[in-house]
Amino acid sequence: MILKKVSMICLKKNLAMQNNIWGEIISLPSSTKIGAYCDIGDPNLGENCKIQCHVSIPPGWKIGNRVFIGPGARFANDFHPKADNSDFVPQGGVIEDDVMIGMGALILPCKIGKGAIIGAGAVVLKDVEAGTKVVGNPARVV
Ligand SMILES: CC(C)(COP(=O)(O)OP(=O)(O)OC[C@H]1O[C@@H](n2cnc3c(N)ncnc32)[C@H](O)[C@@H]1OP(=O)(O)O)[C@@H](O)C(=O)NCCC(=O)NCCS
Repeated sequence: MILKKVSMICLKKNLAMQNNIWGEIISLPSSTKIGAYCDIGDPNLGENCKIQCHVSIPPGWKIGNRVFIGPGARFANDFHPKADNSDFVPQGGVIEDDVMIGMGALILPCKIGKGAIIGAGAVVLKDVEAGTKVVGNPARVV
């Protein structure tokens, strides 16, 4: 049997198999559950989060406590990426506590305030106020 190469074979209960978790682990609490096929660089995650399968979070993002991230949500850490950028510094952003991010949302560098709700498939281009709900592309408050 040929085993696929994976960057991290997860032996911890909170991490599903076949995740690619890489870089410097800033915070990866055992109370936070991570589904399969996630790609997370320099993880900086709060307590009691639920991150579902196929989520991509590059370096530069800080995720608060009790954050739900639906399947296939993706985060960017550069508004204007270039293939050749030796001075690259990740932009990223902050997701505050109790945020819900729907499946397939695309989150560009920004801050999402405490308790905000991001609809499935939303494209978030700018900061979202605490306690608000946004949907659509570009995401708008509803
Ligand atoms: C945003 C969400 C939470 C709905 O919130 P809600 O308070 O029930 O909002 P409503 O259903 O009353 O919708 C309010 C408006 O937003 C629109 N809307 C709701 N969700 C939307 C979405 N994901 N994308 C685009 N528009 C959306 C509705 O059509 C409605 O528009 P209208 O006022 O013009 O009719 C929900 O639709 C959603 O996207 N949940 C995420 C589900 C998910 O990803 N689950 C993953 C686990 S499997």
